[in-house]
Amino acid sequence: MAISNQTTDKVREQVDIEEVVNDYVPLKRKGQNLWACCPFHQETTPSFSVSPAKQIYKCFGCGKAGDPIQFIMDIEGVGFTEAIRHLAKKYGIEVEEENSLDPADIQEYNEKESLYIALNYAKDFFHKNLESGEGASIGLSYFKERGFDPATIEKFELGYSLDGWDHLLNKAKGAGFEESNLLKAGLILERENKPGNFYDRFRGRVMFPIHNLSGKAIAFGARIMTQDKKQPKYINSPETVIYHKSDVLYGIYQAKQSIRQTDKCYLVEGYTDVISMHLAGVENVVASSGTSLTESQIKLIKRFTDQVTVLYDGDDAGINASLRGIDMLLEGGLNVKAVVFPPNEDPDSFARKSGKEGFRKFLEKEEKDFIHFKIDLFAKDAAEDPIKKAEAIRQVVLSISKVPDPIIRSVYAKESARLLGMEEDILLTELNRQLLKNQQKSKPSKFQKEADSSPIEALLPGSPEEENIKIQPRSFKEERELIRILINYGFEMVSEEMHVCEYLLEEIKDLNFSTPIYQELLGHYKNALRQGLLPKFDYFLKIQNTKIKQEVIDMIAPTREVSKNWETKHQIFSKRESDDLSETTYKASLKLKSAYLKRMRDELEEKIKLAKEDEIDALLTMHMELTQLKSQIDRELGNVVPSKN
Ligand code: UTP
Ligand code: MN
Repeated sequence: MAISNQTTDKVREQVDIEEVVNDYVPLKRKGQNLWACCPFHQETTPSFSVSPAKQIYKCFGCGKAGDPIQFIMDIEGVGFTEAIRHLAKKYGIEVEEENSLDPADIQEYNEKESLYIALNYAKDFFHKNLESGEGASIGLSYFKERGFDPATIEKFELGYSLDGWDHLLNKAKGAGFEESNLLKAGLILERENKPGNFYDRFRGRVMFPIHNLSGKAIAFGARIMTQDKKQPKYINSPETVIYHKSDVLYGIYQAKQSIRQTDKCYLVEGYTDVISMHLAGVENVVASSGTSLTESQIKLIKRFTDQVTVLYDGDDAGINASLRGIDMLLEGGLNVKAVVFPPNEDPDSFARKSGKEGFRKFLEKEEKDFIHFKIDLFAKDAAEDPIKKAEAIRQVVLSISKVPDPIIRSVYAKESARLLGMEEDILLTELNRQLLKNQQKSKPSKFQKEADSSPIEALLPGSPEEENIKIQPRSFKEERELIRILINYGFEMVSEEMHVCEYLLEEIKDLNFSTPIYQELLGHYKNALRQGLLPKFDYFLKIQNTKIKQEVIDMIAPTREVSKNWETKHQIFSKRESDDLSETTYKASLKLKSAYLKRMRDELEEKIKLAKEDEIDALLTMHMELTQLKSQIDRELGNVVPSKN
């Protein structure tokens, strides 16, 4: 449910960027600003600055920037409302819920809230059970036997469910919880033959609470303590309104800080893998918990890092079953690596066995990118066996075809061709075939169009026609480009004391955009600046207009940068636009001006055709001036980038 505007305003008034950031990283004053090592990426010399005057932070290393609310959103990985709640708590501001909502929304909100309360009550109950009696002698000693120390048990809030039918049920009822609520939370079950008669779902098991991003328990995994072969080893909470198994990663709450700092996330299978890795000093680890990886889990990881390393148990069967996970991660635009453990070892057993130092070294030494990993997996004896080699090629090409960024894709293609000892052209042809196939699967109409283009063209990002389709007729692609740069880089510095946005807005201040949607976005941008914000793209994603939002997403989506030297296709590492922002911004403003001049000249030419005799001289002079101005700009543009005319 939404928070009232008054509460949001109160939070905005009271928060102080310095106090907020200081909770996460210690700030040191240097001149007007405060500095720290960036909490969003790893560094040893501080490039993260906080301006108390502007109430913003900005990292000159990774580019993260924003206001205190944005800071909480970024560091906690939560949305706007959650961030406001978090800050309200810090500042002791009472949160007023928005009541003007749909009654159905309010009911849903209340229902969710009541489930959180029940689940967290149960979590505390299970945890407390470890202190004495059965819980201590069975639950706690099991954890000890596994090598879990008290700090780790606390960190993961582990617990034990007593072996009986109604321990939790009775305790919770005594505390005022309704059976219907406990049932919806998945904590109790109804007896089949006795309606209205309930019993505990979790009995005589050690309990692993599953936390959401803000650290609330939303479900449980529970491991059996007996050898009873008729019972499943682990049981889990059912899906509820607050627990969607496929959206959740076990351990994300305990890992998020470390994932961000190391800029890397290890992906394992189960609860015990996560916990044992923490014990071995590796905290940037999450588990997909039995399910195969889902798109929303990948998005969740992507909020914190782009680097994922998948850890595989040392048996081939398991690996083959989960290869799809790699392709999905690649499709999500992540950089994927893999580590395979020795036969019959999983991360849990191996971490326990090898100790902190040994484990860390093993991970470092054994990590391979997905190409090496797949080649090793499929090409063990490929040298002698051409069929196996073909399978290895097919597998590698399949994975590469999932990589959304064409530049990275071609780097991988080159590397694989080398590793597989084959001609790059042959591999590229194979890759193109696969790319077309992928497209055919997802968008049949688009495939029709692109099937006509040559294979190499299909490898290129956005062909010119495709670019045109996005832009409405009569719209200026130069205007779009300018807005794109503003949104993506406006907050960066173009020189030592000037932001990209200051430069661009100054350059175009005399121009009126002619494409309504870009005009509107420009308005939003200026508004933000007026409010003292240095907007990043997140700002524009909050705009309540789906068309604008879509346009913004298009603009910030993974790059469409093509190397200028693409034609000499072996030198694909040309500079990217973000490497030289001053060139990029300068170029964009010149191009826009040139386009405007061209349009003015075109309009003038129409006028000249219809002009009366006594007007013609003046118009021709104007025409000449425009032409001169345009060619001056085009020459300038030519100095920056080779232009075609
Ligand atoms: P294990 O079978 O190794 O579980 O599965 P374990 O608790 O470590 O048992 P032992 O001590 O080795 O015999 C590893 C992970 O797989 C998940 C759990 O998350 C577990 O941590 N798992 C396993 C399930 O979700 N369900 C199961 O039935 C089994
Ligand atoms: Mn195990």
